[in-house]
Amino acid sequence: MTKNYPYRLLTPGPVPLHPEVRKILAEPMLHHRTPEFKRVLKNVSEKLKDVFETKQPVFMHTSTGTGAMESAIVNTLSPGDDVLVVVSGKFGERWADMVKQFGLNVHPLLVEWGNAVDPQEIEKQLALHPTIKAVFSQYCETSTATVHPIRDIASIVRKRSETLLIVDAITAVGAMELKMDEWGLDVVIGGSQKAFMLPTGLSFIALSEKAWGFNQKSRLPKYYWDLRTEKKSLEKGETHFSSAVATIRALEISLQFLTGEQKTQTLARIKKLAKATREMSKPLGLQIYSKFPSASVTALLTPGEIDSQKLREHIEKEYNLTLMGGQDQLKGKILRIGHLGYITDDDMAATTEILYLALKDLGVPLAANAREEALAALRAELK
Ligand SMILES: Cc1ncc(COP(=O)(O)O)c(C=O)c1O
Repeated sequence: MTKNYPYRLLTPGPVPLHPEVRKILAEPMLHHRTPEFKRVLKNVSEKLKDVFETKQPVFMHTSTGTGAMESAIVNTLSPGDDVLVVVSGKFGERWADMVKQFGLNVHPLLVEWGNAVDPQEIEKQLALHPTIKAVFSQYCETSTATVHPIRDIASIVRKRSETLLIVDAITAVGAMELKMDEWGLDVVIGGSQKAFMLPTGLSFIALSEKAWGFNQKSRLPKYYWDLRTEKKSLEKGETHFSSAVATIRALEISLQFLTGEQKTQTLARIKKLAKATREMSKPLGLQIYSKFPSASVTALLTPGEIDSQKLREHIEKEYNLTLMGGQDQLKGKILRIGHLGYITDDDMAATTEILYLALKDLGVPLAANAREEALAALRAELK
């Protein structure tokens, strides 16, 4: 059956690549110490500041997003530091696991999955444990498709000169409003396979002035992730290690859509895709899982009798569409649909149609007009 369906990828990363990005990825390799690559690096370094809305340099590591998470830790903190970690899903758990590995003293702030953290809770914890050196949170917790009120959290943390706010914005930067300097975010990280519309393998990190102050005192060992050496190299127009030339050249293309005038349109488009997904899912009997749904990814609860993992596999096998399922306590319960990358209206209509067909295939009783209603709801949002 799949032969009738072109391959589609609607996950929260990796995401479909823009055709211009695909074109440049097919170009012959260029050396990283050439004038042409220096030009590219200078240009992307400037434009990344616009994406992060910061005056500070934004660095690139040749790593997945988790590399930038590690970089955030080792570049700012010291063994034995007290840290507060918002744990509201798989990626919050990752922060907690990582900081433990580095010998930090973790105070986990557990939040029910699907819920956002209450900034007042953070304020309370900071008052209770005044030695806390950093608050770690996701902006979007991808595993539950939930957005945290990062701006409000920042307004609390920024009052404390001795505490940093370290934000995993991997599924947020370039996808939703983020003003690093204005809001007072101290460390912000991103990943190439998300809103940047690139293959996996590049991560981004920026430090505020306050975080650079912490960097001077940080005693955790660092070599590959050492941002002091990266800073010196970037000032000379280079990356310290070999540059991920192909991906950075592709980044120059995708940044056109994430900066300047285009930025507003791209953010609006992502928001629209999320809203359209929420609306089209109603006639199909699929409920929104998160209490604070993100713009970059939507989690849909499958009907009680349907294992979402089976539905996901059926959709991939029969309809050539890759969506994501749930992890851990959400395994078998949710389907996650990504809204990042090069997604056309046609992809959205196909996804709607496929969801309808797949639910029917698995025996879910749906109203006779559910397909038409879902498509109409989708069209009404996308127009
Ligand atoms: C919020 C969040 N943090 C961290 C990561 C980890 O990134 P990576 O798999 O690129 O290491 C992801 C990836 O999906 C993510 O969504």
